[in-house]
Amino acid sequence: MTSDRLDVDILLFDVFGTLFDHDSALAEASAGLGEKADALASLWRQRQLEYSWLRTLMHRPADFRQVTEEGLDYALAALGLPGELKAPLMATYRRLAPYPEVADALAGLAATGRPLAILSNGSPAMLQAVVRAAGLEARFTARLSAAAAHVFKPHPLVYQLAVDHFGVPRERLCLVSANGWDAAGAAAFGMKAVWVNRKDAPLERLPTEPDAVISSLAELAPLLA
Ligand code: 2OP
Repeated sequence: MTSDRLDVDILLFDVFGTLFDHDSALAEASAGLGEKADALASLWRQRQLEYSWLRTLMHRPADFRQVTEEGLDYALAALGLPGELKAPLMATYRRLAPYPEVADALAGLAATGRPLAILSNGSPAMLQAVVRAAGLEARFTARLSAAAAHVFKPHPLVYQLAVDHFGVPRERLCLVSANGWDAAGAAAFGMKAVWVNRKDAPLERLPTEPDAVISSLAELAPLLA
């Protein structure tokens, strides 16, 4: 863990990869894929993100469910896997498993009195589904989706949604994300940013750095001023 203490009023959480394990969709639906299961998980996630950024650059908005499905389509084709896998994999994406520490960590953070909210590229329907399936609906005062901005993170308009929603200066908000590019985007916007480095990855080579780096959400509460 690295950082000074964080003086912030509101905590914003990324969803896929931060609260919920996107690879858990594969674990449930990929029996029989053998050695291709890991390649599918990684290519699917890579294309899902790339398509979201490319659509933002191309001014061709789509909801995150669509880019998730198109990323999966591509990954199945690239790996020579049958298209029939698409429906069960997309279905499991609506009930992804939260990481093991998430429920307790959120309870501890809520006890600090700070509002907790979601700020995700996920579509409103995807966010509602995963949060409900995990029984975490009551934890969040808001579920802010990039769909309202018609662009995807790390575009500044998505982080602005949280400023508009809460009506506080951007530096009073803190984004918590396991995606290094997302933490960099929030920091570039002027929010505080915490990177949850779940995979012990090197720091992204981007123009901004997170205010703190932790390895799991359990480490967040002790950092708050
Ligand atoms: C999110 O939840 C895409 O993981 C990213 O916004």
